[in-house]
Amino acid sequence: MQSVAWSLSLFLMALITAAFVIVCRGAAGERELRTPYRGRAVVFALTLIAGVLITLTTLSPWPLPAYAANPAPAAKVIDAVGHQWRWDLSESTVPVGKPVEFRVTSADVNHGFSVYRGKTRIIGQTQAMPGFVNRLRLTFDEPGQYEILCLEYCGLAHHGMLATITAVAE
Ligand code: CUA
Repeated sequence: MQSVAWSLSLFLMALITAAFVIVCRGAAGERELRTPYRGRAVVFALTLIAGVLITLTTLSPWPLPAYAANPAPAAKVIDAVGHQWRWDLSESTVPVGKPVEFRVTSADVNHGFSVYRGKTRIIGQTQAMPGFVNRLRLTFDEPGQYEILCLEYCGLAHHGMLATITAVAE
């Protein structure tokens, strides 16, 4: 699908560029382009080139994050299941300074699994979706309590969907 979109985009961009060149040549053939129009033509051409570059950059595959390309074993794996309106965690402590993998899913509706240090500093987040397991890898740099909040409105008691985990130095 992506290669089709890529080819189609290239084709359309080539078409627009060709039309632009033909129109400019026609106009230049009749009379010299007046300065303000030439300025606009340059801006248009630069915009077009920028558009092509942005599109190509967006469509080209980004390199995978290092851990996805070569996953190091996590020091601890924690299963996290979202329910209306609580989190079920298979563990409530994590080691400090070692990679921890959360395997996040939902038993009912979509939830947003997020890990906070204090009330304001988000450490990481992923979706909790029924029928899917999303992996979230985090390393906890400081010992202490971290909060797990729901970041997606999931019903009446969404705001109360909290849990805590404790990072312990080993
Ligand atoms: Cu679960 Cu909001």
